Amino acid sequence: MFNIAVVVGSLRKESFNKKLVHALDKLNHPNLKFTILDINEVPLYNQDNEGNMPAAVVKFKKEIQDAAGVLFVTPEYNRSIPGMLKNLIDWGTRPYGKNVWANKPTGIIGVSPGVVGTAVAQGHLRSILVAIGAIVMGQPEVYFVHKDELYDANNNITNEDTKKFLQGYLDKFSGWIESHS
Ligand SMILES: Cc1cc2nc3c(=O)[nH]c(=O)nc-3n(C[C@H](O)[C@H](O)[C@H](O)COP(=O)(O)O)c2cc1C
Repeated sequence: MFNIAVVVGSLRKESFNKKLVHALDKLNHPNLKFTILDINEVPLYNQDNEGNMPAAVVKFKKEIQDAAGVLFVTPEYNRSIPGMLKNLIDWGTRPYGKNVWANKPTGIIGVSPGVVGTAVAQGHLRSILVAIGAIVMGQPEVYFVHKDELYDANNNITNEDTKKFLQGYLDKFSGWIESHS
């Protein structure tokens, strides 16, 4: 079983991106255990604090370090990633030489109500992660367009084709982690 740290780029309680993670969890993949990291207390990055890292940052970095893999689940804000997500990524690379993303098997998915389905944000995120040494899975891509009817009242995916598609993604992601661990 691989422990997967899930970094969701939304603080919103009713986030569609969190909802998608819960639905993935319900698919009960035999090799993947998902934990959504609590990032509510992570402050804005300030280089003055690198010598005395805020406790929430220390915790966040350890959770990434300890995970077998990382799944980024990102909304799209103004055709890019949310600022809070970039903030987390920046903290994770610092101080110099203590980059927790390096060599970490990583996946990217995202959901938005718009038809682009976070494709532009994911492209930006991919180029950042590659630059900081994460081992990013390129295929399959998941550009998920949110629709309420895709979920039942218990957050199970209702559409069989969508379910199979997401199961296929998890199978590939599991294989990606296995081959890069
Ligand atoms: C500041 C801001 C910018 C946004 N820009 C985009 C965008 O470029 N593309 C898009 O598809 N949706 C955009 N949206 C809509 C988001 O996809 C939508 O709010 C979504 O629900 C956010 O994800 P969440 O539900 O996980 O919080 C934007 C929303 C906000 C608040």
